[in-house]
Amino acid sequence: MSRHAQDESVRRVALVTGANRGLGEAIARGLVTRGLEVVIGSRSVAAGEATAAALGDSAWAVSLDVTSAASVAAALAIVTERAGRIDVLVNNAAAHPDFGVPPSTVTDADVQIALETNLIGPWRICRGVVAAMRQQRYGRIVNVSTRSGTFSATWSNAPAYGVSKAALNMFTLQFANELRGTGVLVNACCPGVVRTRMGGPTAELSPDEGADTPIWLATLDDGGPTGQMFADRTAIEW
Ligand SMILES: NC(=O)c1ccc[n+]([C@@H]2O[C@H](COP(=O)([O-])OP(=O)(O)OC[C@H]3O[C@@H](n4cnc5c(N)ncnc54)[C@H](OP(=O)(O)O)[C@@H]3O)[C@@H](O)[C@H]2O)c1
Repeated sequence: MSRHAQDESVRRVALVTGANRGLGEAIARGLVTRGLEVVIGSRSVAAGEATAAALGDSAWAVSLDVTSAASVAAALAIVTERAGRIDVLVNNAAAHPDFGVPPSTVTDADVQIALETNLIGPWRICRGVVAAMRQQRYGRIVNVSTRSGTFSATWSNAPAYGVSKAALNMFTLQFANELRGTGVLVNACCPGVVRTRMGGPTAELSPDEGADTPIWLATLDDGGPTGQMFADRTAIEW
């Protein structure tokens, strides 16, 4: 019997990327509060360990740079070894390299960092967790996206970032379709404009407020929605 098995119930294990600060830290805190074991994915081990220590015994850190296939593989191996399972993946880490830059002057380097961090990173982590999620017939994948990556948005202030998040949205739909009926639910969300390094100090929402919808999606009951994008716990247009 797994060390997580307690009578009929299982203690869920979540991996949150970019959880050392900002929205990721708030999502991790919310999941700990809801009783999950939470792995803090962080490029900086020291920063990840400091965040985990502040969250208590239910959180621990793993070195994770989503742009590195080797880092992702090593992190997933450590989580599988130490926790024995991954039930929840929150793809939260993101790069926002071209704020305020017109599309015609965005550099290849900024397009590359946006796509590598915001699309290819989540893709390779999802690829690494879905087989186990399928087998256990339980998984919750939350892709933290943004309204500025939707075709229904009438504005965008960071073109490479927006394009990468639009691709993440399509990726969400494709993974959800592949996994429909397996117990693995895959959704995207926009957290709103949040007071983090990315959102800036005057943004409308606190990190805990912005974390509400991602946490809700990470803990959906069986039979919950899949293949949709949410804001304020409400499905929105892509
Ligand atoms: N804040 C907003 O208003 C807002 C609005 C819409 C959507 N979002 C989305 O919400 C999510 C969190 O945003 P945030 O506001 O918390 O951003 P943030 O303050 O910029 O924090 C980004 C986090 O991602 C990590 N990260 C960046 N590149 C990484 C990589 N290659 N590998 C691993 N981690 C990496 C950062 O780690 P380091 O500490 O090492 O840099 C940091 O922990 C993002 O997906 C963002 O697109 C935010």
